[in-house]
Formats: sequence, structure tokens, C-alpha cells
Amino acid sequence: MADRTALIVVSHHRADSLTVHIGDVVAARLKEAGYAVDLLDLNAEGFDPRMTVADQPDWDDREKVYSPETRAHMERILAADAIIPVFPVYWNSPPALLKGWIDRVWNYGFAYGRSKPKLAGKRMLWLGLAGAAEGDEYWAMLQGILDRVLRDGISFYTGISEAAVEVLPDAEGEPQIVDADGNFTTGEALTGAERTSHYAAIDRRAVERVEKFLALG
Ligand SMILES: Cc1cc2nc3c(=O)[nH]c(=O)nc-3n(C[C@H](O)[C@H](O)[C@H](O)COP(=O)(O)O)c2cc1C
Repeated sequence: MADRTALIVVSHHRADSLTVHIGDVVAARLKEAGYAVDLLDLNAEGFDPRMTVADQPDWDDREKVYSPETRAHMERILAADAIIPVFPVYWNSPPALLKGWIDRVWNYGFAYGRSKPKLAGKRMLWLGLAGAAEGDEYWAMLQGILDRVLRDGISFYTGISEAAVEVLPDAEGEPQIVDADGNFTTGEALTGAERTSHYAAIDRRAVERVEKFLALG
């Protein structure tokens, strides 16, 4: 039996998206490294990101019993040694589907609000896919925003001190360029062998990031 478990949280509305594909690639690498993998596809499982009254925190009661759906997700988080959200970057943020999972599940009394954080000791790698090119002037800004919001604002805040954000650039099949003034242009769409090698490089990069973060041999 595997002695380590990874929870991969895939967040995309299309089953044939690059995001879902990268989730599968990461899952395969972790299984090969001996991890038990819990692949949580939020869209496929029908997760509703909208906050509900049942899952709204009660600041006077950190023992509040949340909805059965949210409690089931909490159990999956507790069972994981490593948590890896895989998502497309939308407006310099995670998409609403993933944000809603954080809002509803990473709740008061569970993820924060305790002197001894329940999630301490876990590792968390936020793996984003972005349309932007790495050489863009915009790139450093995007990395900075995601580090602050995801790594510092969520992982560190919930006691997960081993956390990182990795962004895979050029996730579109055509270059997207944003200059310092915010002007956006797209280059020619990749085709044929060039396109195949472009996406193979993104796969390799995702695997390298995971290997580095989890120090896989
Ligand atoms: C609503 C929306 C917002 C986006 N915002 C950004 C952004 O802020 N920065 C960026 O680099 N790419 C942005 N993109 C591009 C996506 O990150 C890119 O399309 C996605 O990672 C490609 O992966 P997919 O094929 O799995 O959707 C955005 C795309 C959409 C649809």
C-alpha cells in the first residue's frame, strides 16, 4: 500500500482541456513515484462553487458542522500529504470553480481559526496554466500576484508552510504577448510537429515542477 497520498484538484469546465490533460500527466507521474492519487475533477464531480448558507462560516462556532458535500471534501484534504490544484489562470487568479472550492471547503475551524492548524505538515503545489509567454513583461507580475494570493494568502495562512506556485506559460496554441502598457496581441497559431512539440514541452515542464517540489527521485 502507498504510504503517501496526493490530492490533485483539477479545475476546468472541458474534459478535453489542456488543464485536465496536465492533471492526468501529473497523476501518472505521482503514481509512478509510489503515491496513492486522489484525482478530484471538480467539474466532472459536479462541484458547485457558489457559497451556501450551510457552508458559510459561523464566527461564533468553529465546530460548525458543514454540509455533507463539504465534509466529504474536507476528508479528502485531510487524507492527502500533498495537495496539487491544477487550473487555468483567469484574470490573474484561479477560476471561479477552484475559488469556490476554497471558499466552501477551506472553511473556518477546518482550514483556519485554530491555534494548531489541521493542515500543517501538508505540502501544496499550485500548478497554473497561463496563456501568457514567459518572456512577457507581464510574467513577473503574474507570478508575484499568484505567490501572494495562493501561496501566502491561502497555503501559508492555513499552516501549510511547504507551498509553491508554478505557472506553465504559453498554454494556448498560439503565442500571447502582453506588453508593459497592457496591449495584447496573438502570434500565429502553431500547427503540425511544432504544435506537438510545444505541448510535449508543457507536459515535461509540469512533470519537472512536480518532481522538483516533491523531490521525486
Ligand atoms: C476568462 C479567461 C481569463 C484569462 N486570464 C488570463 C490571465 O489573466 N493571464 C494569462 O496569462 N492567461 C489568461 N487566460 C488564458 C488561460 O490561462 C489559458 O487559456 C488556459 O490556461 C489554457 O488552458 P486550457 O486549454 O486548459 O483552458 C485567460 C483565459 C480566459 C478564458
